[in-house]
Amino acid sequence: MTTPHQPAASARLNVVVLVSGTGSLLQAILDGQDERYGVVKVVADVPCQGIERAQAAGIATEVVEMGADRAEWNKRLVAAVDSAQPDVVVSAGFMKILGKDFLARFEGRTINTHPALLPAFKGAHGVRDALAYGAKVTGSTVHFVDAGVDTGAIIAQEPVRVLPGDDEASLHERIKVVERELIVAVLRATRVKGEELSIQL
Ligand code: GRF
Repeated sequence: MTTPHQPAASARLNVVVLVSGTGSLLQAILDGQDERYGVVKVVADVPCQGIERAQAAGIATEVVEMGADRAEWNKRLVAAVDSAQPDVVVSAGFMKILGKDFLARFEGRTINTHPALLPAFKGAHGVRDALAYGAKVTGSTVHFVDAGVDTGAIIAQEPVRVLPGDDEASLHERIKVVERELIVAVLRATRVKGEELSIQL
């Protein structure tokens, strides 16, 4: 059994980012690094632009592709993340559900950014679903990851208006502008207190 990593409360936060796609949120996280937090590794489930962005920034990367056995993939994912000794894991457009092995190791230290105002419009199509429902306001939520899908405790939220004529792409782009600011603000406000995170926004 591995012992949890316990850095000093004042130390710069070590962040591992999980990505699956374009990585524009990852880019904002990379651009927002300062004395409060730094990205120590980027892990993806598929080769993607997010990995290329991390490599361009000189950050360690690893692609952990899923095979037939999901439980075994989760174990490999835990090892890939654990090797960087993160204080915080950010799921930033990571399109796979994190399994029980992952949560056993990182629950309470893993946060996700979701493109809707939870608890409304959970799941992989939060933008499309808000638009289809006729919502006039949607937005972005940063929350802790738990065993459910987008059900963990909410850390921060910001609203975004749905405009007449919006399609999924235009609305998602405006939400992403807000998501980028929110996730950077959350990371800058996060400190480690023993086994827990303290986030003072
Ligand atoms: C974000 O809207 C995130 O909330 C969602 O996927 C998008 C990722 O965008 N889960 P990008 O790959 O960072 O551009």
